Amino acid sequence: MNQDVVTPIRLVVLISGNGSNLQAIIDNISTHQLPAEIVAVISNKANAYGLERAKKAGIEHRVLSHLDYADRQQYDQALQALIDGYQPDLIILAGFMRILSNEFVEHYLNKMMNIHPSLLPKYKGLNTHQRALDAGDREHGCSVHFVTPELDDGPVILQATVPIEEDDTAETLAQRVHEQEHRIYPEAIRLFAENKLPINTE
Ligand code: GRF
Repeated sequence: MNQDVVTPIRLVVLISGNGSNLQAIIDNISTHQLPAEIVAVISNKANAYGLERAKKAGIEHRVLSHLDYADRQQYDQALQALIDGYQPDLIILAGFMRILSNEFVEHYLNKMMNIHPSLLPKYKGLNTHQRALDAGDREHGCSVHFVTPELDDGPVILQATVPIEEDDTAETLAQRVHEQEHRIYPEAIRLFAENKLPINTE
């Protein structure tokens, strides 16, 4: 067997909104920089622009609205069933704005990544850019990590740092952090696909 040939891994990408990280992944796959295939994009919101991106790229896309389920547990069970039908190797959270139940997270332990717009463990949760500015930080950034039950926790895979300029606003900072997100998320997935992450024990 040729050791250099990497079998493309199957990705399911979960989104709630714009999907610019999804787009970066799509672009990296289409330019052969990422040995992966997106087998489905799933959104909990019908109006997520990321669904348009998936459609344009000819990728299967589904809406599973949390509004149709009585509680988190029932939604997460339905989501899990939908995801598992695609037999993915890796689940990608790309702006999926939902708190996930422990059962769901445990089911995909070491097989689900998230990107968070801060230098974790700093600034878990929301409004990370403003919080970095308010704290007077000199630098900010983003982190790709494996998902564990605690919010924005779990082993960090890659980080990128962005210097904070004197005249930065939350918007200008967010824009520069986003550029870095688009670089490191495909890179983290590539490391997983090539079995280069120590935590990926299978
Ligand atoms: C990004 O800022 C990411 O860090 C956070 O959600 C945002 C998603 O942006 N988890 P997009 O939908 O990929 O454009």
